[in-house]
Amino acid sequence: MSAVAQLAEALGRARRITILTGAGVSAASGVPTFRGADGLWNRVRASTIATPEAFANDPRLVWEWYDWRRSAIRDTDPNPAHHILAAWTRAHAGVTLITQNVDGLHERAGAERLIRLHGSLWHVRCYQQCPAGADAWRDDRIPLPSLPPPCPHCGGYLRPAVTWFGEPLDQVNLAAAARAAACDVFLSVGTSAVVHPAASLIPLARRHGALVAELNIETTQAHEYVDLTIPGPAADTLTAIDAAWSL
Ligand code: OAD
Repeated sequence: MSAVAQLAEALGRARRITILTGAGVSAASGVPTFRGADGLWNRVRASTIATPEAFANDPRLVWEWYDWRRSAIRDTDPNPAHHILAAWTRAHAGVTLITQNVDGLHERAGAERLIRLHGSLWHVRCYQQCPAGADAWRDDRIPLPSLPPPCPHCGGYLRPAVTWFGEPLDQVNLAAAARAAACDVFLSVGTSAVVHPAASLIPLARRHGALVAELNIETTQAHEYVDLTIPGPAADTLTAIDAAWSL
């Protein structure tokens, strides 16, 4: 039996299905991934952009990069991978989507039960954590009126409400993701599985007894925890799985 058929059969039997996504899911929408030849972290060093130290050092430079990403992503659309995953969440109450992506494309495809582990490019919060500005809110203005944009509450700086290297993840989201890893089938889609704690969800699901499948164009560091490997672009492999799985 093919890996796609095996996975479709397991999905058909599963009560709880959890899907972890990474930048590869948005690649077909034209959003660059982080690693690899054309990856964002090949063009700029993550330490100069995506760390609290980088922001403290040069908030305008950091905001220019995020402003550029926001305007590039605004003009993209969800691709079949986002649409299929969103349809699964709507059709099956046992499906939970966990994403490392900050681009908002799962949301635009209409995904339900979505856990955003690394925040959102479309949300901001007060860098100084003033009482009124500490919780993130949506601000999708492009371009922002000034860079760095001022906090409307205290006049300090706003920051993108994304997780930077060296920062802890939102504990509520992380706990929800860890609970979702206790599932029957766990799919890891389009992630290099090198950034933790997100990548640790894969072995965690395995320890909970889940069947773990990986959909990727390459073999990743998670391969030792994977029961089924389905190689290829996510839009194609998810289309094949969707066709084989009668929800
Ligand atoms: P990466 O850029 O590390 O990995 C992207 C993965 O997608 C790679 O394994 C590719 O082989 C795979 N890929 C590329 N195109 C694909 C396609 N069409 N179909 C399927 N797979 C494809 O991105 P992430 O794993 O998401 O964090 O990176 C994790 C985190 O590192 C990001 O959330 C971000 C980054 O630094 C923060 O900014 C905190």
